[in-house]
Amino acid sequence: MTNQVQISAENARGLTQKETLLGHNFAENPLFGDEKLTELIDLARQTGPQYYTLGALNEDGYGDKWQNGVIGDMSGKDVLEAIKNGRLWLQLQGLREIAPHYHGVAEEGFKQLKQANDKFSYHNLTSNLLISSPEAKVLCHLDCAEVILWHIRGRKRVYLYDLDKVEFSADETIEKVILRESEEEIAYRPEWDDVASVYDLEPGQAANWPHFWPHRVDNISGLNVSLQTEFYSNNGMREYGIRFANGLLRRRAGITPAPVTINGLGALAKTGLGLVAKKLGLNSPVERKIRSEFTIDPTKSGNICPLGQSQQTVLAK
Ligand SMILES: [Fe+2]
Repeated sequence: MTNQVQISAENARGLTQKETLLGHNFAENPLFGDEKLTELIDLARQTGPQYYTLGALNEDGYGDKWQNGVIGDMSGKDVLEAIKNGRLWLQLQGLREIAPHYHGVAEEGFKQLKQANDKFSYHNLTSNLLISSPEAKVLCHLDCAEVILWHIRGRKRVYLYDLDKVEFSADETIEKVILRESEEEIAYRPEWDDVASVYDLEPGQAANWPHFWPHRVDNISGLNVSLQTEFYSNNGMREYGIRFANGLLRRRAGITPAPVTINGLGALAKTGLGLVAKKLGLNSPVERKIRSEFTIDPTKSGNICPLGQSQQTVLAK
């Protein structure tokens, strides 16, 4: 089948600059039907926990603390059933490596966006498939990369927070996330919703927003399936490098960096420093460790079983 992306000229110009909605026909692709999803879950499970992230809120999905889980040896069919019945969130990641036919859908979409706006740039494109329960929630967080979320099944509400409209220590928080000192969650305050941009995503819609904007997601109905694509535009790559360098300067040299700007010679030098440091692995010595805290209950579909300390493992994320 042919992927089709629909985007107005104005929205194509707004990509990565402002919140942007676009249309697509990925939902017609059988790759996103139950049968193929089941096969993909089996593949990710067999390839190892580095190719998936299973999450749920504590208190059986109703609490306010995120926890990570492992699939164990449950079949893809049963995992999909559990997601339909529970409050679970599954991200199948690294599709470029383990399922290039899925990644190809993302690549084709990006090619069409580039055709719609030849100034749109993207590097290091990766794709992940999100499969989540009808009422699952994703807590407020920000992502290291720029994101386009291609929504395919179910309905979800996305809350986006403009960095200029909400009060929190953005620079320090972004550095912590980039240097992998903390998970991507941030301390959200309910009053932020007064200034949020809120979108109810239907199948066939995709959303993009400016780099590092905090966001949270409430699923509204149905099994939710979305293709999450991450990339760096030219400016996004520069800003990532600068923030990485600033994080190191603040921690290693005790320097309080100047506000982030992506133009000028200083910025260029910092971009280079940040990207080289990242490549050399000169990260903070205090990288966070993520542990497996639960598994899916094989006896009651949708339930989860907490893992005791001795059963937990450190997950490579
Ligand atoms: Fe995100």
